[in-house]
Amino acid sequence: MNIQPTLYLIFALAFSMPAFAQEKNPSGARIYNEVCAVCHSAGVANAPKTGDQNAWKKLIGEGQVIITAHGYVGVRAMPPRGGKESLSIEQFAEALNYMVNKSGGHWLSPDKAMLVEINKEIANRKKTQ
Ligand code: HEC
Repeated sequence: MNIQPTLYLIFALAFSMPAFAQEKNPSGARIYNEVCAVCHSAGVANAPKTGDQNAWKKLIGEGQVIITAHGYVGVRAMPPRGGKESLSIEQFAEALNYMVNKSGGHWLSPDKAMLVEINKEIANRKKTQ
């Protein structure tokens, strides 16, 4: 039996796992699991827990533009970009949507117009920090 293709597949899978930053479109779930879950699944340092609708209600009420921008810049014990410097705003937004949509929200991927608003809010926030 020729096991080479199987081995190749196993290696390809193993090496593709941690390399999401190089991928064009890693899913929000995957980014969440690899970057955000370490704090947000257990509520480390008072991070709003994923699935805790009460904790997320107020944040969701502030709106997607504000919350995405502030999370990306960092808030108190929440590190900028969740501690993963290489995350783009789109990747951060996907991971956040995954978390929000498990916590009572119904957010969609930001469209171009919303990304413009998010980037404006990021610039504002950085000025006042
Ligand atoms: C090192 C732990 C840690 C990691 C990793 C982390 N967070 Fe957080 N996050 C926190 C903490 C703590 C808070 C609460 C901050 C506060 O209100 O004091 C928070 C709050 C937030 C908020 C609310 C911000 C606001 O305006 O109040 C958002 C949004 C958020 N995180 C998104 C994310 C996303 C998305 C990721 C992954 C890409 C992530 N976080 C990774 C610790 C973390």
